[in-house]
Amino acid sequence: MTMKRYYITTAIDYANGAPHLGHAYEKVLADAIIRTHQMMGEETFFLTGLDEHGQKVQQTAEKQGLPPQALCDAVAERFKSLCAQLAVKYDRYVRTTEAGHKAIVQALLQKLFDNGHIYKASYTGFYSARAEQFLQEKDRNENGTWPDIYGEVHEVVEENYFFRLSQHQDWLREYIEAHEEIIFPKFRRAQILEFLKEPLNDLCISRPIERLSWGIPLPFDAGFVTYVWFDALLNYVTAAGYGTPEFEKNWPADAHVIGKDILVPPHAVYWPIMLKVCEIALPKSFIVHGWWLASGEKMSKSVGNVVDPLSLIEAYGADAFRFFLLREMNVGQDGDFSLERFEIRYKSDLGNDLGNLVSRLLNMVSRYAEGKIPAAGSLEEPEETLKALAEKAGREVPELYLGYQFHTGLESTWELVRGINRYAELRAPWKLAKLVEAGDKVRLETTLAVMAEALRIVSVLIAPVMPTIATEVRRLIGVGVVKSFEEAKAWGNSLTGNALGAEGAILFPRKE
Ligand code: MSP
Repeated sequence: MTMKRYYITTAIDYANGAPHLGHAYEKVLADAIIRTHQMMGEETFFLTGLDEHGQKVQQTAEKQGLPPQALCDAVAERFKSLCAQLAVKYDRYVRTTEAGHKAIVQALLQKLFDNGHIYKASYTGFYSARAEQFLQEKDRNENGTWPDIYGEVHEVVEENYFFRLSQHQDWLREYIEAHEEIIFPKFRRAQILEFLKEPLNDLCISRPIERLSWGIPLPFDAGFVTYVWFDALLNYVTAAGYGTPEFEKNWPADAHVIGKDILVPPHAVYWPIMLKVCEIALPKSFIVHGWWLASGEKMSKSVGNVVDPLSLIEAYGADAFRFFLLREMNVGQDGDFSLERFEIRYKSDLGNDLGNLVSRLLNMVSRYAEGKIPAAGSLEEPEETLKALAEKAGREVPELYLGYQFHTGLESTWELVRGINRYAELRAPWKLAKLVEAGDKVRLETTLAVMAEALRIVSVLIAPVMPTIATEVRRLIGVGVVKSFEEAKAWGNSLTGNALGAEGAILFPRKE
């Protein structure tokens, strides 16, 4: 028996531009999900990568005077370096120009061609180079023109190869109807079923080589390349080790994390049908996130409002950036990015609530307890209240993360953070330290011990979202890297006697 891993993928990004906030978000979301599963004790496999073929890449390379492969190599480095800077720990970075990927795409194309799923036909249609697709009458504006998103649209007649979709339409509709769990959030399923009410057109999967050379040659006709969806979607199986024993450990994918723009039709219609005819099992789920807008507007190069993740990471740190994205976005909805909101969260949630708590605790332990976390005496009502709050968070936050509710999971974690601060105000160790009765010292020590223990639980719960800060907080209270959510359920006194790390560490420096 092979051990099945929890296998997650992101979309693979187009290789024709610089990474932006949307790309960064999708990777952070997938990374937080994979870390959540690791903390549940599961084996995991995380795939991300680059979609390198197609007209846009070819055109961008021409404009820059580069061979397309050189452009892709440079873009791949930028995207990988973004992942490193975001602490996004993928297991595999796939590039669709890899020989192994191309060989499997060709083998599957040949198999489908031999079995009659692919045929050649002449086609007249309106082609958008920007969208890399033929458009349909229903795509037009009411006045007959084409929406700007399609750029220049030309009427073309050409022979091409087509993938038969229509005969699978009923099967797919029944499958989607029977598998409610396949789409998160649930409301997106209606969108797929709506699309499936109209008869499906077969999918054009080729381009004549004289129009587009930057694609994978069709194995049965050297005059054509395949491009975009047929090539791109198959990355999820080629990079998972299709054809090798590795594949069984990974496939079926547990989750494809994608943006709402590429659910219907590519992932929800083309992909299941492709898999069915290739005799490969279907993925278990799609996690469909919304879009980040910039101060209420769609981000676009021409408007000049594209948010650059790298400058934010440099200024505030990767973990603060990750925290903001996951705290603000309700997965599935759209979210709005503005620097003002970012700064408010940075200052209040991170600086005031968490950062000050840590530095305050460290200062007090060094001043009143010789730098070692003291033992707790008996717990009274305020301690029991805080403990109950920590236990509640320890129970519910992993469940919330497992359901992709990072925003509410973090909210619940911050109830605990703020609960610790309230508790500190109530017990006021700085006052206790001035009192001289025998019981006061015990109470002072109990307060510090209980604060440290609750903070330890916080460090477990923030780990999937802020892995570096979590490790830093734990270093400061004398514990190693977190491994499991179980650690958030075990309230105790494991910290007693731990020597604290560097005093007064500033986790979230103030920004002017
Ligand atoms: N190459 C295709 C995907 C092929 S998957 C087999 C593609 N690439 S993309 O670079 O345009 O987009 C990559 C991912 O980023 C998509 O999931 C897309 O939804 C996401 N985002 C792009 N802009 C976004 C925002 N502004 N906000 C959030 N995510 C967005 O599509």
